[in-house]
This record gives sequence, C-alpha cells and structure tokens, in this order.
Amino acid sequence: MAWVLLCTLFVTGSCKEETAPEEEQMETKALVDIQKQGFGQLPDGKNVDLYVLTNASGVKASVMTYGATLVSLEAPDWEGRFADITLGFDSLEGYLSDSPYFGSTIGRYANRIAEGKFTLDGIEYTLAQNNGENHLHGGTKGFDKVMWSAEPVKMEEAGGVKFVYLSKDGEEGYPGNLTCTVTYLLTDSDELRITYEAETDKPTPVNLTHHSYFNLEGQGSGDILDHELMIDANEYTPMDEGLIPTGEIRSLEDTPMDFTTPHAIGERIDQVEGGYDHNFVLRGGGGTLILAARVHEPDSGRVMEVHTTEPGIQFYSGNFLDGSITGKSGKVYHKHYGFCLEPQHFPDSPNNPNFPSTILRPGDRYMSLTVFKFSAQNPRS
Ligand code: BGC
Repeated sequence: MAWVLLCTLFVTGSCKEETAPEEEQMETKALVDIQKQGFGQLPDGKNVDLYVLTNASGVKASVMTYGATLVSLEAPDWEGRFADITLGFDSLEGYLSDSPYFGSTIGRYANRIAEGKFTLDGIEYTLAQNNGENHLHGGTKGFDKVMWSAEPVKMEEAGGVKFVYLSKDGEEGYPGNLTCTVTYLLTDSDELRITYEAETDKPTPVNLTHHSYFNLEGQGSGDILDHELMIDANEYTPMDEGLIPTGEIRSLEDTPMDFTTPHAIGERIDQVEGGYDHNFVLRGGGGTLILAARVHEPDSGRVMEVHTTEPGIQFYSGNFLDGSITGKSGKVYHKHYGFCLEPQHFPDSPNNPNFPSTILRPGDRYMSLTVFKFSAQNPRS
C-alpha cells in the first residue's frame, strides 16, 4: 500500500530517533536545538508548552501543545535578515479566542463535508455544521482546539516534537477511537517536515493538514499579492457557493487558477470571485513525495517549496481576513495578508466516491508527509 511506502520513505536513511526523557538532555546531541517553555494556561488550568526548535543556520520554528500549532517560523531573506513569516499571536489568548486556524493542525477532516453528513458501510453519520450548513476543519472543537501530548525528537540532522492525540469514538460525530501522531521536524537543510500518522478501531474518514498563513516578506508587512506562486496541478475540483465540490474534476487550462507556470497571486485574483480558495489536483500526487508548490517573494528573495504525499492542495489567499484581528507585534491582518497552502485529500471526499478515498479502516495505518522547504535568492540575480 502507498502508506507503507511513505512510512519506509520517511524512516529509512541514517536518521536515528532518540527521545530525551529528561528536559535537561534536550540541549545535547542533535544539531537542532530544542527548548521547552511555558506558553500560558487554558481556562481549565492546563499548562500549554511551547517548543522552540533552532537549526544551525538560525531558522527557528516554535510549536505548541494546544492544537499542535506552529506559532512562528523565522527564516532569513537573501541578505540573511530573519523575519517571522507566519501569522499568529504573541500569546495563547489570541489562539483561544480569535484564530482562523493560524498555524493549526486540522483534523479529523480538513476542509468541508457537505451538510456535515456522510454514509459509511451503510451507516449515516452526522457531524457539526460549523460553516453555514456544512462541516469545516473537524467541527466546533477540531484537532486545532485540543491539547496534544508532546515529546521532543532528536535525529542526527533534525530535531522536533512528536505530538499525540486520542480522538474518542463519537467526537464531533466521527466514528472510532483514532490515535493520531503529528511530528514536526526542523532539519539542518531548512525544512520543516510534518508527518501525520493515525490508527482507528472503526472505519472513519481521516484527512489531516497544516494551516499556516504565510507571508514571506514577514508577518503583518502587507498583502501577499506580489508573491509569485507555482502549483503543479492542471486540474481542480469546482465548487458550489458553499465551497462544496460538485464532484467534477476540471482542467485549469486558460483559467486564472492555472499556476503551472509562476504568476503573482494578485495578477488575476480579480477574475476569481471571492479570491482563491480552491482544491488543486496535484499532478502525480498521492502516495509519493512530490513538489506541489513553490512561492517566491521578490523583495526579500524568500522562497518556500511545499512537498507532499497528498493528492491535493488547498490554496487559500486569506480572503476572509478583514482587519478585525490584531496579531503578533500589534500587526493588524487585513484581507490577503497571508496565504495558506494546505496539502490534503479533496474536500467532501466521503460523499464523492470518484475522489481518492479518505476512509481509514482498523488494521490500516494513515500516513502522510508534508515538507515546507525554505531558502532565499538574490532578487537581482
Ligand atoms: C478554507 C477557507 C476557510 C479557511 C478558514 C481554509 O482552509 O479553504 O474556506 O475560510 O480555511 O480560515
């Protein structure tokens, strides 16, 4: 099965996993430094921890136990100046009250399920309708709003955090106890590797993704309309007004959504009603790790590549940001101040038998890998 292949792909090589039980041991051995600190308390008194990962070139990724969330990502521009390139908040409070999934882990099902309903093995299941009449990003309390247990992970050329969460049978209406693991690894080649694994005791849909809003010029610095984007997809899944796929898989040729060659995000956005918020069908996607998208910001020279084993990617151009959120360092997030590239299976797959299946069965293992790779190039070269 494809998942087995992925698993092999990820765990082979020279990387040896070593888990440090004692906090003090975290600073030793791996080239990637791991520091653990407090990040506030939930209303029920639970402490939230933040793990700050720093690699040899100074790239820094901070992840917290609430929502297995990426809180910040600091990367250099072409002259070596660092900036935090993800939208978010300085403290936990913002994530508890205001966040449109900034940096979140999304599950049990990323994206929409029509009317919050699906039938599996003859049984109809009803989920929360938390987006008009539809179900979005796992429901009212999805994986972005739960506490994950965490332990640091050290490898020869990478360091990170392994998050685990047990989603109980019936949670948000989904069947089966689902044990999920999300591992963030920062490597010494400036990659953030996110691995997803899950097992269930009843058949259930599973579709996990990462929901960072990026601005490669630095969070809060303006809109992302000048970012140049390539997506290696020549088809997409058209949707109705509720952003539910019609079931068709349609060519992107001669549409403003064709990013097979790089285009500035803003170049044709006015021709797309509401802005970009579409699922792209990746060429050769699903099973093996492929380059899905590449983004280049011309002033800073920063480049982000997205590699994934998923068959699709949702490109969302921050259309619903409207200036009502004040984020890190007092920055106000207006429309298009960040973009998301969310590798995933297609929206509403449980109701579309012609889409790649999202059903996980007992005895099988869900496995998915996404790699965000950062670099910078001299804009004048
Ligand atoms: C969806 C948008 C949604 C946003 C929520 C994205 O993944 O595609 O439609 O509004 O998440 O922040």
